[in-house]
Amino acid sequence: MVIPLIELVNVSKYFGYGVIGLVRFPAVDGVDLKIGGEKPEVLTLVGESGCGKSTLAKIMLRILRPTSGVAKYMGKDMWRLKRSEVRRFIRDVQPIFQDPMDTFNLFESVESYLISAARNLLKLNEEQATERIAQTLEFVGLTLDKVRGKRPQEFSGGELQRLSIARALLVQPKLLIADEPVSMLDASLRINILNLLRSAKEEFGTSILYITHDLATANYIGEKIFVMYRGSIVEQGNIEKVINKPLHPYTKVLLDSLPDYRMGREWFKKQLPQTLRTVIEVREMLLKGCKYIYYCPYKTQQCYEKPIMIEVEKSHEVACWMYYE
Ligand SMILES: Nc1ncnc2c1ncn2[C@@H]1O[C@H](COP(=O)(O)OP(=O)(O)O)[C@@H](O)[C@H]1O
Ligand SMILES: [Mg+2]
Repeated sequence: MVIPLIELVNVSKYFGYGVIGLVRFPAVDGVDLKIGGEKPEVLTLVGESGCGKSTLAKIMLRILRPTSGVAKYMGKDMWRLKRSEVRRFIRDVQPIFQDPMDTFNLFESVESYLISAARNLLKLNEEQATERIAQTLEFVGLTLDKVRGKRPQEFSGGELQRLSIARALLVQPKLLIADEPVSMLDASLRINILNLLRSAKEEFGTSILYITHDLATANYIGEKIFVMYRGSIVEQGNIEKVINKPLHPYTKVLLDSLPDYRMGREWFKKQLPQTLRTVIEVREMLLKGCKYIYYCPYKTQQCYEKPIMIEVEKSHEVACWMYYE
């Protein structure tokens, strides 16, 4: 039995909602998930905005503590690690954020930030650190000369996202968690960054978890997919199988509307005032059973109970009572 790098067991995260936060709703609800352990792979987590992707990412990055359930790192509760194990966790699991500015310190040159990161996390001397940085920068298509003496503000958005990828890869992590890493970049730059993430798997043996609301880019880069709806994973498995034969009624809708998905549903949601949007979402998030019940044409009485994840074919699972015998 291989121990997964990250394993979530029935993990939920509740937030307060409303003026004084009296209503509590699960942004993540009962998620079971395993990542890493065997060969490196490119995984994608897909779902519309507000479905809990970033919350789930922060749980896996040990930034947010689950309200209930257990988030494990190498088989151990990640909130009960020894100090040395926390250090190893930080080396093994690295984040890439939507806004690359979040990675860097505005008042420090990028070069000295990279050097201190390499020295602190890897315990390298200055010469070794510089060498490692040069190698990693080369991988992302930059050079030390180009970076030297410059502060984050002096780079373009695309360059800065490359630098934050270099920063994350510096420690040669086992897993990179990239939360909407291209959504702030010009369309013309996106594909380059996605290619870079994909080749990081080959170059460094790093698994990638690419998080996005955009199914098209997920399909472009991914090998395995998790489809999320209102805090729960509704379908997961080999991405080709999921795309060619979607099982969950929500995944089907997501795929049907693929070309105009963002133009349609996402556009419509953006027109609603934030409060109203949240009321609708929270109403669904509070459901104990299937969260898709209000829209589902196939719903039955059973759907008021929480659906169990069922393997319908090899490497293809769905949480839907329709497939349950
Ligand atoms: N710190 C927080 N406090 C209260 N509500 C939050 C907090 N973070 C996220 N939420 C809410 O949790 C839900 C999921 O948010 P998020 O995980 O950011 O979704 P996504 O990344 O898929 O867009 C949203 O309704 C959001 O408003
Ligand atoms: Mg998000």
